Amino acid sequence: MFKTVRGMRDLLPVDAERMRHVEQVSRELSKLYGYEEIITPVLETYDLLAAKTSEEIRERMYTFKDLGGRKVAMRPEFTASVARLVASKLRNEPKPMRLFSAGSLYRYDEPQYGRFREFWQANYELFGSSRPEADAEILTLTNDLLTKLGLKNFRFKVGHTGILKGILDQEGLDEAKQDSVRQLLDKKLWEDALTVAREAGVSDNCLAVLESLFETRSENAFKVLENVKDTVQDYGSAVAAVENLWKILELTRDSGAQLDVIVEAGFARGLEYYTGIIFESYIPGLDIALGGGGRYDKLIQLFGGEPIPAVGVAQGIDRIVLALQKQKHPPKTLKERSVVVISVKDESMAKALELSAMLRSSGLPVEVAVMGRSISRAMTDANRRGVAYAVIVGPKELEEKKVVLKDMNKGEQRTIPISSLTEEILTDSK
Ligand code: HAM
Repeated sequence: MFKTVRGMRDLLPVDAERMRHVEQVSRELSKLYGYEEIITPVLETYDLLAAKTSEEIRERMYTFKDLGGRKVAMRPEFTASVARLVASKLRNEPKPMRLFSAGSLYRYDEPQYGRFREFWQANYELFGSSRPEADAEILTLTNDLLTKLGLKNFRFKVGHTGILKGILDQEGLDEAKQDSVRQLLDKKLWEDALTVAREAGVSDNCLAVLESLFETRSENAFKVLENVKDTVQDYGSAVAAVENLWKILELTRDSGAQLDVIVEAGFARGLEYYTGIIFESYIPGLDIALGGGGRYDKLIQLFGGEPIPAVGVAQGIDRIVLALQKQKHPPKTLKERSVVVISVKDESMAKALELSAMLRSSGLPVEVAVMGRSISRAMTDANRRGVAYAVIVGPKELEEKKVVLKDMNKGEQRTIPISSLTEEILTDSK
């Protein structure tokens, strides 16, 4: 018997429905914010996907030669593909440009809770603005999505790549060294990050600054930023980065968006393309990011386009589904409102079909019993498949313009007028 490849999952109906629900809410939100959907290929050239991602992702891409001898890879994220488009086909489109994508991504990660080799993201990218309102939009949009989905107590971990970069640039560290410091910070290996910096020859003052930064995290965002600004005062562009983060968070707060933010001065994300704010979202008790994003102002240029500033976020659909389950309110599945319509006799079949159409037109999912089975067998079958309501259509009840409605979960049934059937089911299943 064949099995799925390690790390790959079959999503059976309930799981598939939960995933599609999160995807659908993400898509609706993209429209509310003016993001247009694009669909890019799963397979891209290796060089595109490898540029400015991270060492870890580069090593974990599904890479192979196609039959034409091209080195290709399955996309580990959307950002590179969207940036490729913006640097090429969409080059002349007016800015700002807001683009949405949803679909599957591939990383050869070690499978564990919340970490899969095939996973799904809803991805939002905003091109053309380097202003704080663009960063604030990406944060607010993420906040709206998680709220709309019904998640509670989620938080944003926020930092700014410019803080560390400003310090390390001034200390003369090349990009490769800076990347390795960032990778270690991303893995929370603060000591190792300090060691790399020390061995790269940074000043003692710099080491002290870094050490203090790595320890700085708090819910009082503006207080932390004040402290951080003090700590990095000798590094001009690090100060500018702190001021930029301040502006973004201030704008978000003053807009009335209720964001629960923790500022972490030593926060780094693995990806190499970030140039500004970076953030991740979390719920309590689940130590994996539900989504992550940030500003990347140099990528389009690197891909051969004009310099175009950009900021974006990817929401991890699989992990949001896990978070909803953890907080015990997974979205109601359609099954919980589903109806089976069973005709007692052949002569009531046409009416059964008519009633099915009536119920569907109110948005209820309806199956018709099509196997010609006895009522009791049809009910057993409906029960086995988790159908919520049965409508039994018999000639006797029809004479009085009535049908039997059975609540399959409670096991209760009653005879009700056809005129109130839809309303009864809709109210009951709310
Ligand atoms: P990322 O942090 O690599 O960022 O991924 C974003 C989200 O995708 C994560 O927070 C997580 O929810 C989900 N994710 C990542 N890897 C896995 C996995 N192996 N299994 C399940 N879920 C996973 C990016 O991908 C950037 N492209 C985000 C971005 C967009 N930055 C700017 N624009």
